[in-house]
Amino acid sequence: MTTTREPYRATTGKLNMAEVLALFTATGRQPLKFTAYDGSTAGSEDAELGLDLRSPRGATYLATAPGELGIARAYISGELQAYGVHPGDPYELLKTLADRVNFKRPSAREMATVVRSIGVEHFVPIPPPPQETPPRWRRVADGLLHSKTRDAEAIHHHYDVSNTFYEWLLGPSMTYTCAVYPDVDATLEEAQENKYRLIFDKLALQPGDRLLDVGCGWGGMVRYAASRGVRVIGATLSAEQAKWAQQAVADDGLADLAEVRFSDYRDVGETEFDAVSSIGLTEHIGVRNYPAYFGFLKSKLRVGGLLLNHCITRHDNEQHSFAGGFTDRYVFPDGELTGSGRIISEVQEAGFEVLHTENFRHHYAMTLRDWCHNLVEHWDSAVDEVGLPIAKVWGLYMAGSRVAFEQNNLQLHHVLAANVERRGADSLPLRPWWQP
Ligand SMILES: C[S@@+](CC[C@H](N)C(=O)[O-])C[C@H]1O[C@@H](n2cnc3c(N)ncnc32)[C@H](O)[C@@H]1O
Repeated sequence: MTTTREPYRATTGKLNMAEVLALFTATGRQPLKFTAYDGSTAGSEDAELGLDLRSPRGATYLATAPGELGIARAYISGELQAYGVHPGDPYELLKTLADRVNFKRPSAREMATVVRSIGVEHFVPIPPPPQETPPRWRRVADGLLHSKTRDAEAIHHHYDVSNTFYEWLLGPSMTYTCAVYPDVDATLEEAQENKYRLIFDKLALQPGDRLLDVGCGWGGMVRYAASRGVRVIGATLSAEQAKWAQQAVADDGLADLAEVRFSDYRDVGETEFDAVSSIGLTEHIGVRNYPAYFGFLKSKLRVGGLLLNHCITRHDNEQHSFAGGFTDRYVFPDGELTGSGRIISEVQEAGFEVLHTENFRHHYAMTLRDWCHNLVEHWDSAVDEVGLPIAKVWGLYMAGSRVAFEQNNLQLHHVLAANVERRGADSLPLRPWWQP
């Protein structure tokens, strides 16, 4: 029998701990069970999905950072545990917990009831889990936001985790961006190969052309283009990625055509490229820096050269900083997003002619689904490699992002643009020249 209790009854005075947990985490619209260390229960007793609050420390995390950060702290430290999902893929729970994964922040009145219920002593902040980066204002010592030194630190935090861990997570393509699925049954590998094919074709690359790939990761695009006779320079700010990519370039016998540099993209001195690809770098740039970023990319192209910008976008054109949230503190320090309209305007303002744009929102949800499957499959080894808290951060991040793409909180856009000749002359075909 299912018994559902109201998770919150302000008029009765105090809440038990399971009710407190429900108040901080759920919308109340879905059947979930909540249990707590004091033996209390709330929600739907026989629901498969739910949460268990293991200790007063967990309650303190929830109460002192209401919203996604407090929940993440309690979950990553093990003070909050999930029912019915694998930590490598908590998608079903996250989808059920809250609309658009925007966790509810209790009102002032509700918070007063929480204080009465759990005791004021639990409102004294405790140190966050050691995997958390300090807040933005404390990271000032690492340099101003998006200075080269601070960007290097942020990239090191996220990408220098362990190449072995990324191999398990991403699979053989070692590609850490949205794939393009040719059909619903395609594998992740097929979809990543298809994504590189699409970008290569959109950029109209021919053997002998020169390509610059900024934010090249483990060199997937670099190797795809070089193996088709294109001369490529790739730049990544992650030392571990550069090392892995340089080895892969050598192993594939592509060293005559391809070079991967451990460098900031802003330090690439060469110019007159036929094409520039930027696949998953824009998220790290900061919206205020778009004029300098797109201006730099334009300065790298010959007249008539093409840019393909591939990045995560939002459903509106506001400037969305992750500051203060789970993503900023555990995943992408200093990351920032905006909408496709803003990206297109900025590309245009930099002097490009925008030729084409395309949204791959559902493809990113599928990519994240497949990465979560990989993480579950390699869970024990992943935990041995990076530790349980970091492995949980990844499961939470990827499953939460999948929900965000599915619910149109996030999107993924390609923008194709030309460094057009002053009087508009070009030799491009009249209609799109690539297979979709
Ligand atoms: C999401 S990953 C994408 C990697 C690769 N393009 C792919 O599709 O797998 C973002 C990449 O941007 C790089 N990056 C971020 N900021 C950078 C900078 N200022 N200069 C060079 N690379 C940067 C990171 O090192 C990482 O390789």
